[in-house]
Amino acid sequence: MRIFDTHAHYDDRAFTEDMDELLRDMHEKGVERLVNIGCSMDSSKKIAEMVKEYDFLYGTVGVHPDDVDNLTEQDMQMLIDLSKQDKILAIGEIGLDYHYDGIDKDNQKRWFVEQLNVAKQEKLPVVIHSRDAAKDTLDIMKAEHTGTTGGVIHCFSYGVEMAREYLNMGYYIGVGGVVTFKNGRKLKEVVEYTPLDRIVLETDAPYLAPVPFRGKRNCSIYLQYVAEEIAAIKNVPVEQVYEMTFENAEKMYHLH
Ligand code: NI
Repeated sequence: MRIFDTHAHYDDRAFTEDMDELLRDMHEKGVERLVNIGCSMDSSKKIAEMVKEYDFLYGTVGVHPDDVDNLTEQDMQMLIDLSKQDKILAIGEIGLDYHYDGIDKDNQKRWFVEQLNVAKQEKLPVVIHSRDAAKDTLDIMKAEHTGTTGGVIHCFSYGVEMAREYLNMGYYIGVGGVVTFKNGRKLKEVVEYTPLDRIVLETDAPYLAPVPFRGKRNCSIYLQYVAEEIAAIKNVPVEQVYEMTFENAEKMYHLH
């Protein structure tokens, strides 16, 4: 078994106490590659340093839609500089999140487009966060980024129709703990529909731990439960899920 976690947040407060120990332990147990995802300017800077500490750790830089309020053009320049560093594989997570009321949609769209342009310019794949914003995300992706550098729709939360759109544009579908949830039927359907060579594993740790750890702090080794669920849905040996998703992740992040 070798696991590629394409999306985690080990710079999160939840790991302050034991990150080093946890990362090394999981690596020994089969987490062969791990990508820590940026979600603010601060985390992006932190990640650019973190990846120097562990050979199996990679990173991305980008600003999550919840964090775009005070962004400046200077920040974009900083992102470009950080993205040129070794082991920084993608721009993300970026996108749109309309889940909470009172957010400035135009501002989210503006910085989503700007960061997509950074990715295009630097020829890096993108890690897309999209929640309750299906139409606007798709419109922007079609207008600005149609398959330019590829990437992943992370924590995929839409239905089969939307999955088809992104698959046709060449993106991967990110699947995590939600697929093990009792109420995860929509994602199970998407997994059933999506060819195995277009799925990547992701934790979003510390969030979204799979059953039987639902509600607890998530970590990359728990991807076993996600892989087993995917294997059951697709009726293939779990080894095949590990191997395929590993290869997919390498392709997606241009690690070949
Ligand atoms: Ni995330």
